[in-house]
Amino acid sequence: MTEGSNTNGVSRRNILTAAAVGSAATAMAAFGTAASAQTATGTQPAAGAGRVAVVTGSSRGIGAATAKRLAQDGFKVTVNCRVNRDHAAAVVKEIEAAGGEAIWEQADVRDPAQVRRLFEVAERTFGGVDVAVANAGVMSLAPFSKMTDEDFDTMVDTNVKGSFNTLREAANRVRDGGRIIAISSSIVQLRSPTYGPYAASKASMEIYANILAKELAGRKISVNAIAPGLVATSLFLDGKTDEQVAGFAQRTPHGRIGEPTDIAATIAFLCGQDGWWINGQTVYANGGVI
Ligand SMILES: NC(=O)c1ccc[n+]([C@@H]2O[C@H](COP(=O)([O-])OP(=O)(O)OC[C@H]3O[C@@H](n4cnc5c(N)ncnc54)[C@H](OP(=O)(O)O)[C@@H]3O)[C@@H](O)[C@H]2O)c1
Repeated sequence: MTEGSNTNGVSRRNILTAAAVGSAATAMAAFGTAASAQTATGTQPAAGAGRVAVVTGSSRGIGAATAKRLAQDGFKVTVNCRVNRDHAAAVVKEIEAAGGEAIWEQADVRDPAQVRRLFEVAERTFGGVDVAVANAGVMSLAPFSKMTDEDFDTMVDTNVKGSFNTLREAANRVRDGGRIIAISSSIVQLRSPTYGPYAASKASMEIYANILAKELAGRKISVNAIAPGLVATSLFLDGKTDEQVAGFAQRTPHGRIGEPTDIAATIAFLCGQDGWWINGQTVYANGGVI
C-alpha cells in the first residue's frame, strides 16, 4: 500500500477532497445558492438572497452601514436601536427606498428578555435568522485613576453582557450554514492609555467568537470577530477636535480613518458565500493602523 492510499486503493487525498467538497457544497446549499433573488447583473444569486440578518445597534454608525450593506446584498434585515427610534426607522426607510426589506425593533442588549424579543420578532417577520451581528457597543475613556464605576459598569453591561446576550440567542437560533459576527476593536492590540476597561470589554468578543465557533461544530455556521480601527462614527468622533482626528488620519497607512462602510464591507464578505472558511478568527479591519 502506497502512502496516501487505503486498502481499496482509493487515494486518501481523493477521499479528503471529496469530503471537503461535500461539506462545502452542503454549507453553500444551506446558505442559499438556490435562492431566487439576483444581483444587479442578474447572473449571480445575491449573497443574502432569501436570508435574514439581525444587526444589534444598527440605528447609527457601523451597525447602520452594516444593515444597509447586508440589505443591498439581499438579506432581509432587522435593525435595532436602544433609544434612537427615529434613526432606526430612517435606516429601514433607506433600505426600503433602495428596494430592500427591513424592520426595526427597539431592544436594549443589556436585557436578555429584550434581546430574545428582538430575535423572535425577526423570526416571526422573516421566518428565521441566518446572520447575527453583535455590534451594539459603548465606549468611555479615562485613565484607571479616573474611570467611574458608572462608566465601567455601562461598558461591561453593554459590551460584555449585551454581546453575550446576543450571541446566546444567535447560538440557539441562527440556522445551519449561517454566520455570527461579534464586533471587537483594534484597541485590543493597540492598548493605548485611557482605553483599559473598553479594550478589555472588546477582547471578550474575540474569545466569544473563537469558542462559539467550536461549540457550533457540525452546523456549518462560521463565527468570527471583526476588530475595526478608527472609524468615523459618534463613538470615535465625539469629544475630539478636527485637528485630533486629522492627526489620527495622518498616522494610518491609508491616510484616513475608516468609514462605517469599510467595516460593513468586511462584515458582508464574512457573511457571503466566500467568507465561510474563515471561522473562529478575529479579522483586524483597520487600514493598517497597527
Ligand atoms: N467607531 C470606532 O472607531 C470603533 C472602532 C472599533 C470598534 N468599534 C465598535 O463598533 C461597534 C459600533 O460602534 P459605532 O462606532 O458604530 O458606535 P455608535 O455610532 O455610537 O453607534 C452605537 C450603536 O449601538 C447602539 N447601542 C448602544 N447601546 C446599546 C444597547 N444597550 N442596546 C442596543 N443598542 C445599543 C446605539 O443605539 P442608539 O442609536 O439607540 O443609541 C447605536 O445604534 C461598537 O461595538 C464599538 O465598540 C467602533
